[in-house]
Amino acid sequence: MSLQEAAPQTDVYGMLSRLHDGPRIFRTPPADPGVGWGESWQLTTAEDIRYVLQHPELFSSKNIAGFSRLVGQEWDLIPLEKDPPEHGKYRAVMNGIFSPAKITAMEAGVRDRAVALIDAVVGQGGCDFVEAFGRPFPVSIFMQLMGLPEADTDRVNEWEYGLLHSGDMNARLVAARGFYDYLADLIAKRRREPVDDLITFCIKAEIDGRPTTDEEIMGMCYLLVVAGLDTVAASLGLHFRHLAMNPEVQARLRADPSLIPSAVEEFLRAYAIVTTNRWVTQDTEVGGVAMKAGDRVICNTALACLDPAEFDEPMRVDIERSPNRHVAFSYGPHRCIGSHLARRELVIAMEEFLRRVPPFRLREGTTSAINPSGLYSVQGLQLAW
Ligand code: HEM
Repeated sequence: MSLQEAAPQTDVYGMLSRLHDGPRIFRTPPADPGVGWGESWQLTTAEDIRYVLQHPELFSSKNIAGFSRLVGQEWDLIPLEKDPPEHGKYRAVMNGIFSPAKITAMEAGVRDRAVALIDAVVGQGGCDFVEAFGRPFPVSIFMQLMGLPEADTDRVNEWEYGLLHSGDMNARLVAARGFYDYLADLIAKRRREPVDDLITFCIKAEIDGRPTTDEEIMGMCYLLVVAGLDTVAASLGLHFRHLAMNPEVQARLRADPSLIPSAVEEFLRAYAIVTTNRWVTQDTEVGGVAMKAGDRVICNTALACLDPAEFDEPMRVDIERSPNRHVAFSYGPHRCIGSHLARRELVIAMEEFLRRVPPFRLREGTTSAINPSGLYSVQGLQLAW
């Protein structure tokens, strides 16, 4: 089945793929008024995006999100806003959190969580997928891992939405401040009473043989929540939307669940969600275009994943695509640290849902649009079975 869609409001990936018919690199208007970003360079090819992400000495990730500035401070999201060689010291410490062995140890709990959520709705003939499963499944796993009390889920979700999905500057400011105050409070609590969670891990971590500073702890915790909470939820919505609209794909995966890991890999490629950016550190050239120190470069992982020079028929969703060296988790030193966890959650969700729920489709009379602002995600997904 093709990614191309008839309705313009859902054809986000179709619109992105058409950019490959135009110039390789072009200027875009200021993307984010209020945080000081001017015009930016929009890259379109996987080759250029890979080059930029793999050359941090020329393209820095310092202050790419700018969340600390939204609260009138200056600390880095760690390790994302650190450049090598400094980046490596933090990354080495944080790699331990998400090693394949740690993720395997979490597996039974993750599966139990999926089964409990599915059992709650399977008898109802349908559900609001995002509300019933797509958000609560990954969000509850992450809240527990991080050490955020489950009772705080709604407000953490609200801040996350304000920061990552709302195009409104004021909403971003309110979310950035609310979230900062909340985390500062929790970090202070964990300093007094350490427990087995990621906040305590960040407090106890050592960098170069010295304890982490308050700003470093905030930078690590802030990034973990922003990067970990919402990404799997956004992906689940898009992947299950594809299944609901393509009964033949569902039927194949039900008949042969061993195809699920390869299908998830293809959905990650076809529905890549993250757009990131970098700052040019010295005058340079990319793809024949001269760039000046201080310019901003946008790297949209979905554009790289839909590049016809890299993927045969990129708009065709082929659940057995091989090879499938996609860029949904980025390239280079900042390649996603949570990719093992994300993949396990996405595979387990699909295995258990297809095992327990009869063939499902979009509920009659409903549509499911894709939110093009920030992380790509579904605006709603009503399923019926
Ligand atoms: C499908 C889900 C996910 C996708 C598509 C995704 C994608 C990405 C991408 C594209 C980057 C690189 C950003 C850049 O280079 O500017 C990244 C980095 C990162 N991700 Fe993920 N991510 C996902 C899930 C997660 C989860 C579940 C966690 C944590 C629990 C996580 C934690 C991180 C962290 C900490 C970084 C920064 C790594 C560094 O700077 O070295 N991600 N992710």
